[in-house]
Order: sequence, then C-alpha cells, then structure tokens
Amino acid sequence: MSALRQCYNIEDLRKLARRRVPRPMFEFIDGAAEDESTLRRNTDAFLDYDLVPRYLVDVAEIDTTTKLLGSELAWPVIMAPTGGSRLFHHMGETAVARAAARSGTIYSLSTMSSVSIEDIGRETEGPKMFQIYVLRDPKLNRELVERCKQAGYTALCLTIDVPAFGNRERDLRTGMTIPPRFGPLTLLEFARHPAWVWNFLTKPKITMANLIHQFDEAKQDVGSVAKYVHSEFDASVTWERAEQMIKDWDGPFAIKGILSAEDARCAVQIGASAVIVSNHGGRQLDGAIAAVEVLSEIVDAVGSQAEIILDGGIRRGSHVIKALALGADACMIGRPYLYGLGAAGEKGVAKALEILRSEIERVMRLVGCRQIGDLDRHFIRSRRACSSVTNNIK
Ligand code: FNR
Repeated sequence: MSALRQCYNIEDLRKLARRRVPRPMFEFIDGAAEDESTLRRNTDAFLDYDLVPRYLVDVAEIDTTTKLLGSELAWPVIMAPTGGSRLFHHMGETAVARAAARSGTIYSLSTMSSVSIEDIGRETEGPKMFQIYVLRDPKLNRELVERCKQAGYTALCLTIDVPAFGNRERDLRTGMTIPPRFGPLTLLEFARHPAWVWNFLTKPKITMANLIHQFDEAKQDVGSVAKYVHSEFDASVTWERAEQMIKDWDGPFAIKGILSAEDARCAVQIGASAVIVSNHGGRQLDGAIAAVEVLSEIVDAVGSQAEIILDGGIRRGSHVIKALALGADACMIGRPYLYGLGAAGEKGVAKALEILRSEIERVMRLVGCRQIGDLDRHFIRSRRACSSVTNNIK
C-alpha cells in the first residue's frame, strides 16, 4: 500500500511531508514565530469548545454547499494564500489550485507565489482569490489588481498583519534561505532528498513569479526579489489605503489578519465584504490570541454585515464544524494542504482535502445537522465562562 494511502488524517500527511521534503523547507512550513505559542494555541483552543449533538434527525442526505465571496462552493473550506509553494514540490501553486478547483472550492494565490497570476488564471476554471499587501508604491498595487481582473480572479484578499516580519527561529536554525542554498547546514539534508534536488535542478527556476518583470534578468532570483518586496512593505499604511484598494477592485474583498471586534468594524466601514479572522498561522505575532478564541466576538460585532472566515489551526473536520457553529461562514487552511503538497504533490493536496471533507460530512451526521446553514450556537458550548457563546444564539 502506498504511503499516501496510509495517511488517515492531516497529522499523517505532516509526517509524510517531513520525510519527503528537505528539513529547511519542512520547518519553514511547519514553524511559526518565536516560542510558537500562538501556533499551538490556534489548534488547542478548539478543545475549549465542545460539540452538542442532536439525535434522531434525518441525516441520510446532507448538504455541504455554501456561497462565499460571490462563488458557489461544494464545501466550506478554502485555501489560504501561502508564498513560494514550489519550494515544497516542483508543481507548487499549480498543484494546489488544480486540487482546489476539483474539490469545488476557492484557491488563494499569494503575492509571493512562485507561479504567476496569469498562469494560475489559465490553469483552472475554479474560483480564485488573489492575496495582496499594501505596498509602498501604489502603482504596483494597482498593477497587481489590474492583472487579477484581466486573469479572471473572483475575489481579492488584503493581508494586514505584516507591519514587521515575524521572528521565525526555526528558519535561522535550519539555514533556510530563499532561494535554497547548498551550505554546511543544509548539504546533508539535500543529499537525503535526491528526488527533491533533481526537480530543483532540472525544473524551471523558482522565482517570485508575480514580480520578476520588475527586474533585470541578472537579478530575477528569489533572494533579490524577496529583498525588494520586503523593502516595499510599508509600516506606515493605515485604513485609508485599504479603502482605496477596495474601490479599485470593486468586487468581493476580504481583509485577512483581523483579531479584534474593533478592527472588524473598521474593515466593514471601509467596505470589505469579508473578514478573515487570522493570526497568520502564528507566523507573525507570537502571543497573539488564537483565531477561534476571538471568533464569536467578531461574529457578534459584524457577522450580519460581512462574511466571516476563520483561519488558523484547522486540522480536523470537527474544527471546521465548531467554527461554523460559532458563526463563521467558512474556514481557511494553510499548512494542511502544504503538508499534502510536500508529501505527494497534487495527489497529496487532494488527499488533504478529501480527509477534511469526509471528516466534515461525518461530523455533520454525528451532530445531527443536514446543511451548513443550520449550524449555529445550539451545537456548541464553551468550557470557559464565555457568555457571548452560551447566551447569544444566532
Ligand atoms: C503562510 N501564510 C501567508 N499568508 C499570507 O497572507 N500571505 C502569504 O504569502 C503567506 N505565506 C505563508 C507561507 C507558509 C509556508 C505558511 C504556512 C503560511 C499564512 C496563511 O495564509 C494562513 O494564515 C495560515 O497558514 C493559517 O494557519 P494554518 O491553517 O496553517 O494553521
């Protein structure tokens, strides 16, 4: 039996990816900022909520479809934007976008992707969101937005939680560099993964595909482009620039990185149609509140005015069901599909999605819920004295 067939949950895929991807790349996916307390808390915090099932409900047929960001989805989980996916498997973003389209959900392409806006646009008919940052040069922002319109993207997502770069100590320890360098810290690891090295050396060079045209050929390596993009991050930007981007896009627009009811209200005030409750998977501010911990507060503040997407820590279908019961419209996943990508390329991503989707369907039947829209706070109880969960029925 193949190793992939023996993966029964996301943790199994994580272990397989750890075997198949050189350590610097695996730790880059798996790690987070500083003590990684927020990374752990994102998943552990789901334990503070218990599902309350109802029985003798007809759940012979269930319906997982939903509508989000103007698209019809087969199930309520979408792909988070993650940069440089060709570092983990040579097919990178293309593999993830194909698997997402086949499973009937949204793929989000990062500004820092290793496949371009246009190539992903041509690759699938599925709904696509582009993730953007507010960059120092408004012209560059406008150019990216225009390219997404031309390439048929259905939504835009602005990530706001990078006023400084997270301090990721695993990457310092493993000698992770972009592009990967064969040095004393990494040589043995690369020698242990000849298939990865073969692809790295024989397939097209890994670049920051959306931005290389800004550079002379000699400077198109990922390192130079990354340095440029980092210099383009503007720590002085405020909500006004975000508002301008929403106007420029004029379509479904999500703001990613919201962790307070106050910021959620600001996002809605400037015209965002969706709020992504997220701490960047714990990769930015270590010690930040877990996404699910702040979810019901944000639902209560703006849930009637914007779509709410929970991002961070999802490793089981039951986590998705808990988030939806607390009032989220959908969830976003990052590492779960990247583990699949590292483990077995497109087949591995498809496996990750299949695992989560079948867990969601099973849990829906087990809690006695026929359709996604029926999930509400009757199905969940907080272990902590959290009145907004126990008293506010949607
Ligand atoms: C990310 N994330 C991210 N977010 C973003 O807005 N732009 C980006 O380019 C990236 N890049 C990125 C790379 C890698 C390797 C990871 C793991 C994550 C964060 C991502 O969108 C999402 O918020 C988290 O991954 C969610 O947490 P889980 O699902 O990984 O627990």
